[in-house]
Amino acid sequence: MNQLPLVVLGSINIDHVLRVHQFPQPGETCLSEDYQTHFGGKGANQAVAAARSGCNCGFIACVGNDDWGQQALKQFAADGIDTQSISIQEGNATGLAMIQVSDAGENTICVAPQANRYVSSAYVKRYQSTIENAEIVLMQLETPLAGVLQAAKIAKQANTRVMLNPAPAQRLDDELLSLVDIITPNETEAQQLTGIKVCDDDSANKAAQWFHAKGITTVIITLGARGAWVSENGEGYLSAGFKVKAIDTTAAGDTFNGAFASELLRASSLDNALRYAHGAAALCVGGKGAQPSIPHREQVLKLIERS
Ligand code: RIB
Repeated sequence: MNQLPLVVLGSINIDHVLRVHQFPQPGETCLSEDYQTHFGGKGANQAVAAARSGCNCGFIACVGNDDWGQQALKQFAADGIDTQSISIQEGNATGLAMIQVSDAGENTICVAPQANRYVSSAYVKRYQSTIENAEIVLMQLETPLAGVLQAAKIAKQANTRVMLNPAPAQRLDDELLSLVDIITPNETEAQQLTGIKVCDDDSANKAAQWFHAKGITTVIITLGARGAWVSENGEGYLSAGFKVKAIDTTAAGDTFNGAFASELLRASSLDNALRYAHGAAALCVGGKGAQPSIPHREQVLKLIERS
């Protein structure tokens, strides 16, 4: 096994979270019950989920030259993440996200990328050997697409598996999709990418076939509390999730992705890795904030054992 079997490439944000009864309508002002800041960012959350699952994990990312950036770096080190491929962008602020969480545990998120803009194609090339030596590179879409494409090209050449969580969804061309081995959209992202409204098993299967036709072997469409539609080489089935009360769904998808990649690298079967990832995501929605609610391996194993 390589020293860093998993490399995550992606964003680092500081989440500013307002708790509200209901999301305000356009033109409406509402008072928040609670305000907190947490470490977040889809890339960072996925790296943290993998590390807390016991995976040796590198992270290609950028922070700003500010106190938040320093604090985020300290937290990554505390989580055991290899921070050698994270750089500080002088004259820039660390990425930030404004998040509202409703009583139903749902969220709305708006991100200012800031230093995340510098995870460019040239930046990614600096870490070519890190990607080449990994077994999986895990990416999302909160950093520039050119950097994601560059990493996917390097990975493909080196037989490193490319796992893409296409969040937030945006148009992706066939060149990038053809380099992806595992794709993990949620229902909304699957619809935005394929044009197929995912509302039941049949439509999830149709969307999965669309991804297969682009050359992707493993398609995992996450369906919230229902679990995920999983399709490998054209064969699809529903992988059930855990039923839990949601306090805050922020980072549940990220936790699923990081935990899944980590468990897959333990030479676990696809089904075992899925069960583990569902367990990790279920624990994440039971707590407030992105990284504070990402569980450690022992907690996930306990949940699985109990169920
Ligand atoms: O997926 C949740 C994350 O999305 C938050 O932590 C926020 O930073 C945004 O990137």
